[in-house]
Amino acid sequence: MKKNIAVIKGDGIGPEIVTEAMKILDKIAEKYGHEFEYDQVLMGGCSIDEYGEPLTDDTIARCKAADAVLMGSIGGNTTTSPWYKLPPNLRPEAGLLKLRKELGLFANLRPAVLYSQLSGACPLKEEISAKGFDMLIMRELTGGLYFGERKTEEVDGVMTAVDTLSYNENEIRRIAVKAFDVAMKRRKKVTSVDKANVLDSSRLWRKVVEEVAKDYPEVTLEHMLVDNSAMQLVKEPAQFDVMVTENMFGDILSDEASMITGSIGMLASASMNETKFGLYEPSGGSAPDIAGQNKANPIATILSAAMMLRYSFDMNEEADAVENAVNAVLDEGIRTGDIMSEGMKLVSCSEMGDIIASKL
Ligand code: IPM
Ligand code: MG
Repeated sequence: MKKNIAVIKGDGIGPEIVTEAMKILDKIAEKYGHEFEYDQVLMGGCSIDEYGEPLTDDTIARCKAADAVLMGSIGGNTTTSPWYKLPPNLRPEAGLLKLRKELGLFANLRPAVLYSQLSGACPLKEEISAKGFDMLIMRELTGGLYFGERKTEEVDGVMTAVDTLSYNENEIRRIAVKAFDVAMKRRKKVTSVDKANVLDSSRLWRKVVEEVAKDYPEVTLEHMLVDNSAMQLVKEPAQFDVMVTENMFGDILSDEASMITGSIGMLASASMNETKFGLYEPSGGSAPDIAGQNKANPIATILSAAMMLRYSFDMNEEADAVENAVNAVLDEGIRTGDIMSEGMKLVSCSEMGDIIASKL
């Protein structure tokens, strides 16, 4: 098959980790007789440096024209980078939010799995980590606080800032449907996370999720308040299968979920619209502190590329091969710094890519 992939390497460790994921994709293409064509485009800080804005119309058009988008990470150090002296709508993150909206990527899938080889890197007590966990956070990505009206103004001589959390029933329904569809292919349990004891948007969320659940009698639905969910994630993560939640709650809970897997450098993510089109990126950030040092963990990006093969290109066998190669490398005790532990072999970002490629 021939596929056109828009590639956003981005800022910080982005270029290093994406280069490794492309190495893996090239190997897959060679082995399975596919042709992957890459269209490299700029977004984030590198686009600000080049064009004075984080996302150009040209980048949007080229991403839309592609079969899928592979991304690294964007942004820099928010206290020292000059990008953060710019007005908020011209900063790197504004580019990412606009791209999500322009591409209609309302469903963000963030799987959090504790690899048995890495259970030692899990910060939880052994009696909890020993049970393992395998959950998928389905985060709503184009609504809520991130996209509601916002302003900062002086009200009666006092500076006042407002952000708006708004959801309509259609936005809730389509993400709920995605969550139940995915749950049907997993362990058939959905935990819907909200703050229905306080927020109107959460009460509507709960009502719509319950309506959608009627079409999925095989799936068990439970509701959980977001504060309790944060607690349950560290108390008993094994209880979760699919967790569906609004944008901001999902942002926070997915970082927490990634941390208990041992390292944010292991977590892949897919952002999808109603079709098979998606943007694939690691859940972690641009890690400016280690950028350019060939130290970053490329596994999350490589696993994101595997999600691209599976969800956008229907290449299940190829996706399995990539995931198995990652597993094999972990079995052999090969580690980047973030997941290093005693007795293991420490490798660089590019060595990790080479070794995973060699298993394919
Ligand atoms: C994420 C990131 C982004 C978000 C930032 C970079 C805007 O934290 O993808 O989780 O908040 O969505
Ligand atoms: Mg985040």
